[in-house]
Amino acid sequence: MNYTVLTLFTDMIKNCMSTSIMGRAVESGLIACDVVDIRDFAENKHNRVDDYPYGGGAGMVMEPGPVYRACEYAKALHPDKKSKIIYLSPIGKPFTQEKAKELSREESLIFLCGHYEGIDERVLEFEVDEYISLGDFVLTGGELPALAVMDAVARLVPGVLNNDESAGDESFEGNTLEYPQYTRPEEFMGKRVPDVLLSGHHANIARYRREKSLIRTMDRRPDLFEKVELDKKDKKFIKEYNESKHKMFVKEMITGVYLMDEAHGATGYLVVGEDRACLIDTMCAATNLGEEVRKLTDKPVFVINTHGHPDHIYGNVYFEEIYIHPDDIPMAEEFYNDPLYVEGVKKAGAIVPPFKTTKAGDTFDLGGRTLEIYELPGHTPGGILVLLKEERILFTGDSINHHLWMMLDGCPAMEEFVKALDNVMFLEEKADRILHGHAQDFDDISLMRCLRQGAVEICEGKIENDPPYHWFGGVARQHPFKLEAGKEYAQIESVICYNL
Ligand SMILES: C[S@@+](CC[C@H](N)C(=O)[O-])C[C@H]1O[C@@H](n2cnc3c(N)ncnc32)[C@H](O)[C@@H]1O
Repeated sequence: MNYTVLTLFTDMIKNCMSTSIMGRAVESGLIACDVVDIRDFAENKHNRVDDYPYGGGAGMVMEPGPVYRACEYAKALHPDKKSKIIYLSPIGKPFTQEKAKELSREESLIFLCGHYEGIDERVLEFEVDEYISLGDFVLTGGELPALAVMDAVARLVPGVLNNDESAGDESFEGNTLEYPQYTRPEEFMGKRVPDVLLSGHHANIARYRREKSLIRTMDRRPDLFEKVELDKKDKKFIKEYNESKHKMFVKEMITGVYLMDEAHGATGYLVVGEDRACLIDTMCAATNLGEEVRKLTDKPVFVINTHGHPDHIYGNVYFEEIYIHPDDIPMAEEFYNDPLYVEGVKKAGAIVPPFKTTKAGDTFDLGGRTLEIYELPGHTPGGILVLLKEERILFTGDSINHHLWMMLDGCPAMEEFVKALDNVMFLEEKADRILHGHAQDFDDISLMRCLRQGAVEICEGKIENDPPYHWFGGVARQHPFKLEAGKEYAQIESVICYNL
């Protein structure tokens, strides 16, 4: 394979072509790369190659003459080979793996790199065989796109990659994105490599990878997914995956108290009294929550939101009477205004109900069952705890759980949080068990004291070994806290995430 690059910045190309795999390919003679300085073809004293655009406008345009002479020179370098001239430009067709494969079958490729505002149109009409864009954005020059194309093509030239770098099972093969890859160690910052990859069972590994690859492509590149050829097994898997994404998992925890886990995204609780029922949190609106609740009770239903995050309030649209702490209303309303949510609500022909407020000291009589409201600012300013008095169950939303997020904007300092917790520690005497906003089962009430101990350790600076915690908002820290031996917990590993 012969590359010739026509550029005003030869060093950019030379540096890359002498590095790593491309450097090795050039050294071993599998790829030859000539770098031609377009400026060498200027015919004026100052080697100027650009001029003002006719018709006015910002920037300079590369003159046709030097570009023409450089192209002719490049073609003459390999007279025995058919050379294709490619102009890298945002107006070209977006580059793809398919195109890389096609180009890898050519003998000689000439890359023309523009700069400034681009190149005089007339010489492009004479010389260019193909226009390629790196994507829908504008770079300062064609060198990086040329190198990207040269790299993608080079690794498909036989012999350029050795076995360890093989170009086999990669993204875009069969229009799918590649499955996740793992290497040693088996456990990294609490995350284990999936067991199936350690099993040595080749068929299961292949199936696992195929399924991960299908999910990735479907979620991230629906445009590509449309072109994937699915066999019977794939279709069955995709159907089940889609169903589970929109599925409500319901479990009756004690008579008339239901855990409602929506697609393993968030959990709400339906507490049914003799006269009416209360739904504590409404999850993400991934299911028709109104219908799901109606399957469990025909009593009038009202809602209490433990806090104002979207994964606990978006299903409010299925109900009319919604209570929340006033300090979380501004945040909740901001999430209500998210354009995607607004569109979804509009499509469903629904109306977002107004909030009513509730505060510490309020009680809700359901008939034979009483809910008491307590305040715990921390995870959000208006976080509340709901006590089901008779059955001694404390619903804690995301304020007390195994993975407490205290790194969000608006979270108080850890010292403040400990004070707020101390104000409600008496609930240890009133409740035996906890159900939180992402739970699958009961936790012992001692989770509250263990979490407090973790928060105190952060305040005391016992954080030397705390690893980073990567989340969609950036990088925080995570402080593990210990649970009490012998008690029932739904989850063993527990951390508080915080900012330094
Ligand atoms: C500042 S750009 C010129 C952009 C041009 N005025 C336009 O709006 O289409 C200068 C040079 O960078 C290269 N370039 C910029 N963005 C590119 C992209 N997305 N793909 C390929 N080449 C690009 C081209 O060679 C182009 O001539």
